[in-house]
Amino acid sequence: MLFRSKETKRGPLADSLPPHRAKYSKFYKQGEFCGTCHDVTNPINKVPIERTYSEWRYSWFASQGENGTCQACHMQPASGFAAEPKLVNIRAPYRERIATHDLTGGSNWIYDALPLLWDNLDTNALQLGKSRAMATLQRAAKLTVSYDRKSYLALTVRVINQTGHKLPTGYPAGRRMWLNVSGFDSSGQLIFESGKYNPKTADLISDKQLKIYQAKPGIKGKGATFHFLLNNYFAFDNRIPPRGFTNKAFNKAGAGVVGYNYQDGQFWDDTIYKLPLKTSRVRVAILYQSSEKAYIDFLRRQNKSDDWGKKLTDVWKKTGQGAPVEIASEEINIQ
Ligand code: HEC
Ligand code: HEC
Repeated sequence: MLFRSKETKRGPLADSLPPHRAKYSKFYKQGEFCGTCHDVTNPINKVPIERTYSEWRYSWFASQGENGTCQACHMQPASGFAAEPKLVNIRAPYRERIATHDLTGGSNWIYDALPLLWDNLDTNALQLGKSRAMATLQRAAKLTVSYDRKSYLALTVRVINQTGHKLPTGYPAGRRMWLNVSGFDSSGQLIFESGKYNPKTADLISDKQLKIYQAKPGIKGKGATFHFLLNNYFAFDNRIPPRGFTNKAFNKAGAGVVGYNYQDGQFWDDTIYKLPLKTSRVRVAILYQSSEKAYIDFLRRQNKSDDWGKKLTDVWKKTGQGAPVEIASEEINIQ
């Protein structure tokens, strides 16, 4: 049985008395622990795939002690037992403060998709996971909107990154965030829209002022592709840096900005939209999508060895086609 193991198990509780060998280790409370996996590099061409750890390591958060760690945001405090007393029959004390071991991020449609692929999954637990993912996303960014009257209505939309790394971060392929800006005239008629999404076709409709935040890995000479093993550079990366960002440290860590410009210390992004002067009300939203249609299509087309590409497409379609989630929104009246 697990707890008869002779191996010493290490953990972050200095006062635990488990029925196996144990040793306190503060490593579990540090960002470096997560960093053993959350900088991913292609082993063949040494090109960065993910740099979530470095993004955090060279941010302000890494200098904030326990309050700034990955664990502080991704393992929210809870109370309960660190080990199930009934199961292991030990003196596990009830603890006022332990960490939730859910490591919730931004992925959200997968919770609905998994039970369609495998039987006997705990759908209740999956739905709780989904609601935690939605809550995590609500903490990801803040939005401010201001305006100026010129020969048009100049609307400045600021997205402020509240996370401890780039926004969005993680595996880049298919993940994106964009701004939806809607302008209404005095009779409530929609007279302007940028970042319109068609939920039927799962298409984000292109327009001249559209702002998308994403990283696009690619193959030199070919441009952006979803071939994560063949990709050998970043064709583009305008994801918003975290508090404490510097171009020098991020470039050195393979986490630099590409094809866009963020000043050192800038953890927000401003977009200035041109709206018709007769706009009297504006609604702005930040939308987050963990898997865009083009990525799902790619996986289906490229999968020749079995039917998993088709299976994935089927469940993606049945669960709302990775519908975007609103991270924040703001509505203002134009005086
Ligand atoms: C042993 C390797 C390993 C370690 C250590 C590790 N992770 Fe992960 N983590 C993964 C893998 C693999 C994935 C799934 C791939 C992905 O989403 O990029 C993942 C996914 C995640 C996700 C995304 C979940 C989602 O919604 O898709 C978050 C958040 C996360 N990890 C946070 C952490 C934090 C915080 C720590 C440290 C306390 C940590 N991880 C330590 C391997 C690891
Ligand atoms: C200040 C809070 C905060 C800190 C610190 C933080 N994160 Fe996050 N993280 C978030 C939020 C909010 C999101 C969801 C938005 C996004 O994807 O960027 C997120 C997203 C992620 C994702 C992507 C999830 C997905 O859907 O794939 C991963 C992976 C991740 N974090 C890992 C880490 C690791 C590893 C660290 C430390 C090295 C860390 N985070 C530090 C708040 C934080």
